[in-house]
Amino acid sequence: MELSAIKWFFSPAIIGHRGASATAPENTLAAFFKAKQLGLHWVEFDVMVASTGEAVVIHDDDLERTTNGRGRVIDCSYTDLKKLDAGSWFDPLFSNERIPSLQEVLQLLWRERLAANLEIKALAGHEQATVKQVLDILEENEGRLPSPLLISSFSPLVLQLLRKASSSALLGIVIDAWQEDWHALCSEIRCISVHINHEVLTPARVREIKAKEYLLLAYTVNTLDRAEELLSWGVDALFSDCPDVLVAGLKRK
Ligand code: G3P
Ligand code: MG
Repeated sequence: MELSAIKWFFSPAIIGHRGASATAPENTLAAFFKAKQLGLHWVEFDVMVASTGEAVVIHDDDLERTTNGRGRVIDCSYTDLKKLDAGSWFDPLFSNERIPSLQEVLQLLWRERLAANLEIKALAGHEQATVKQVLDILEENEGRLPSPLLISSFSPLVLQLLRKASSSALLGIVIDAWQEDWHALCSEIRCISVHINHEVLTPARVREIKAKEYLLLAYTVNTLDRAEELLSWGVDALFSDCPDVLVAGLKRK
């Protein structure tokens, strides 16, 4: 897919970060469904693997913050992960939410015609297994995938493994702190997008990235003033926990 075609999908230019995560528990089916109801076109979500190898959608390495479980995701079997309550921490109304599998999330996004940014969070030493598992599931679901589907990671190794396995995958690099040599890896991996912590962006850095013709996405932006500023600098889209607030505010302008 051409960059210009992908850009077309950034309207509104707001991506539901972990779904609509201020309205429903992050990275749950409820959060993705809510994003659709709010009129979004894109959601972002985080993927890692269970001890038994299945890809699941959850952000933290540990279970404590967003479930009633304990310990690390990577030490827990898929069967045990599926028993956990992934919604009550947010609101008892969501007590039926479970940690979704990647398969379940892809099915929902495809059904709801949502575009997606799948972010791979691989623990050190598990990069290869995580990438293989994700790519296997994408292959099994070919023809029934969110479109566009942008795959990203903070991990250079994950991105290198993805590119080795797929010459056509749409890849994006995630950058938390500014790195002067950001472009070397992007170009080696043939990334189409740079996903960057908005706090390290300046107008000059936006110009530098856009001059090299990457899509530029900034996280995590939850105030209207900052959203307007970043978009006025030329950022293509923003990850937000409260996408509905930003979309409504930007429309009013
Ligand atoms: O992919 C953008 C953003 O989600 C990266 O940070 O920690 O929220 O996954 P994090
Ligand atoms: Mg993420």
